[in-house]
Amino acid sequence: EKGPYRHFMLKEIHEQPDAVSRVVGRFVDRSERTLAVQDPLSFDFADLSRMTVSACGTAYLAGVVGKYWFERYARLPVDIDVGSEFRYRQPPLAPEGLALFISQSGETADTLAALRYCAANGQHIASVVNVEESTIARESKSVFPLRCGPEIGVASTKAFTTQLATLACLSVVAGQARGVLAGDKVEELVTALETLPGAIASALLVEDQIAEIARGISKASDALFLGRGPLYPIALEGALKLKEISYIHAEGYAAGELKHGPIALVDETIPVIVIAPSDELSEKTVSNMQEVAARGGRIVLVTDPKGAESHGAMAHQCIVLPEVHPFVAPIVAAISVQLLAYHTAAHLGADVDQPRNLAKSVTVE
Ligand code: F6R
Repeated sequence: EKGPYRHFMLKEIHEQPDAVSRVVGRFVDRSERTLAVQDPLSFDFADLSRMTVSACGTAYLAGVVGKYWFERYARLPVDIDVGSEFRYRQPPLAPEGLALFISQSGETADTLAALRYCAANGQHIASVVNVEESTIARESKSVFPLRCGPEIGVASTKAFTTQLATLACLSVVAGQARGVLAGDKVEELVTALETLPGAIASALLVEDQIAEIARGISKASDALFLGRGPLYPIALEGALKLKEISYIHAEGYAAGELKHGPIALVDETIPVIVIAPSDELSEKTVSNMQEVAARGGRIVLVTDPKGAESHGAMAHQCIVLPEVHPFVAPIVAAISVQLLAYHTAAHLGADVDQPRNLAKSVTVE
């Protein structure tokens, strides 16, 4: 069942170009060059006052990226929280609010409790799930299925990138409905989404090089991941993946937060993974990287050809992603942090598919 792959996780990482392509294909209207949902929605994006997102773990981090997209491309304010905090916080919810839940399994107890709270408080209920027969799907009025096939590895990979692709498409659908996006801008974003499967495939081609970088990381006891804007949650995801499968302590930080504390940790023993493909904010991230370099930190720069040319010399090692539109760059960068975590854990001989203490579906709080 694993085919040529050593672990299900690696197989699932390699399934991502196809899985993401299927998601994008479900939203793209090829003749109109716009994005649309296949089934009628139980709410109207144009009428929403705000969106409240709840999820756990990696699914939560997909939602954090989604917040950047919905706020930017649909001008829809988004609140997001992990299910376990949201459910007991009992936040006031605005009329005409959409509550969106993200879950691979569709059975996560805290996410489900957050859903039931929102349903009882008059919100429109929608979910992004992989398991379409799940409780969360059943209790949602609108369901956006991932259809990425069963995810066997405990550490989520293809569910994460298909969640991201779904949220990216939905943010454009919402932007169109809310009159924020039209014409050339929509065309530009549709094209960016269509290039995504190919870009993910290219990001997978540098796997051997990432495995080499991972050899170095496997000797460290701590690692730091930095990113800015929608790449900040990718830094958090990189740290989560690394700690859960390799058991190396890792933290993700917003690059701008570095000087507010974590820079105290930086010395020549700590790998600092800086996620900075070229975009309007990458120069800022690079100046944070300079601060790390000045303290002897071992920098792994995840960037694109342009970024590698201008800033690569500052890094110990570079992972070069294909050049893509900044809109979809977080999805492409996610591939690198998955491979980095996978190969680090594999070097250490860890049980990648069944990490200690973790379960695939967390149905108790
Ligand atoms: C991390 C991971 C977990 C899940 C979390 C939510 O790799 O897999 O953090 O993302 O337990 O699970 P679902 O998506 O099933 O609600």
